[in-house]
Amino acid sequence: VVRKLQPAILNFNHNQRSFSITSQTNSKVAVLGAAGGLGQPLSLLLKINPHISHLALYDIVQVPGVAADLSHCSTRAKVSSHLGPDQLKTCLDGAKVVVMPAGVHRKPGMTRDDLFQTNAAVVRHLADAVAKFSPGAILCIITDPINSTVPIASEVFKYRGVYDPNRIFGVTTLDVVRASTFIAQAKGMKAHDVNCPVVGGHSGVTIVPLISQCQPFVSFPHDERVAMTTRIQKAGTEVVEAKAGNGSATLSMAYAGNQFVSSLLEALEGETGIVECAYVRSDETEAKYFATPILLGKNGIEKNFGVGKTIEFEVNLIKHAIPELQKNIRKGEEYLVKYP
Ligand code: LMR
Repeated sequence: VVRKLQPAILNFNHNQRSFSITSQTNSKVAVLGAAGGLGQPLSLLLKINPHISHLALYDIVQVPGVAADLSHCSTRAKVSSHLGPDQLKTCLDGAKVVVMPAGVHRKPGMTRDDLFQTNAAVVRHLADAVAKFSPGAILCIITDPINSTVPIASEVFKYRGVYDPNRIFGVTTLDVVRASTFIAQAKGMKAHDVNCPVVGGHSGVTIVPLISQCQPFVSFPHDERVAMTTRIQKAGTEVVEAKAGNGSATLSMAYAGNQFVSSLLEALEGETGIVECAYVRSDETEAKYFATPILLGKNGIEKNFGVGKTIEFEVNLIKHAIPELQKNIRKGEEYLVKYP
């Protein structure tokens, strides 16, 4: 199993992980936004996830049907349904991990930032419930624009006096999944065998794949490296355009979200050496929040590995990402001031 920390930290390979260690600890996971286009496939994967003993599904519509449907799957997790704000407390009570895919999605021509006004309100409302009803849970935010929604949730937790930066994650796993898949395709390798870290944020130029740190090592001529980087940065848009107004990535995002939650639960259960890239409160660059490889542990972030060794091309990508990230972060932080 290549899941222990190796001398090169990124030797960690998600796809070769074994589920055989599954302990029977009680792990309640709450999904906020479980009936949506992303919430449903994510909840299905979490229902299959052997680390989860109780899957609590929350939404403002249709969640009883989704929960009834999932509850017939012959897997470990018990499923409960929570409809509307009055049922947030029972959904969140005792949750170890809270996953938040709630919110609206992009249509062609929109940026993730165009979702800000609607999704900021959703995240503020749900983060407030988490801060009140399960302040010790680890919060995994998928709702876009992640660059801003993680700061919003963090400000809500600060306001409620329960902020722990080690326990709030922006889920950027899909960027790593995409980078690894595209590189594997380009090099004729198996996607399972490739792991390319992606740092920065989760939109446009803030998505910074560190191809020089890819495991196994891969080399590209400059123009191909530029094209590969651009494809990874625009991969979400590729899906939005292909869906032609009917949504953004839901299936691959569910796959990636489940991978992140799985890693987190393994770490919470005491497995060591588990590393995932995630967007977190960070002192690694001038941006207050920044995605980097993170060693996960019993309390969330165990260690931030930072950006590591990069080539000049990547140094420039990071330089370019930081002002945009800082703008997105400020917008998130100021949201609570503007709309208290
Ligand atoms: C993605 O990366 O696919 C998501 O952030 C959804 C989107 O709008 O691109």
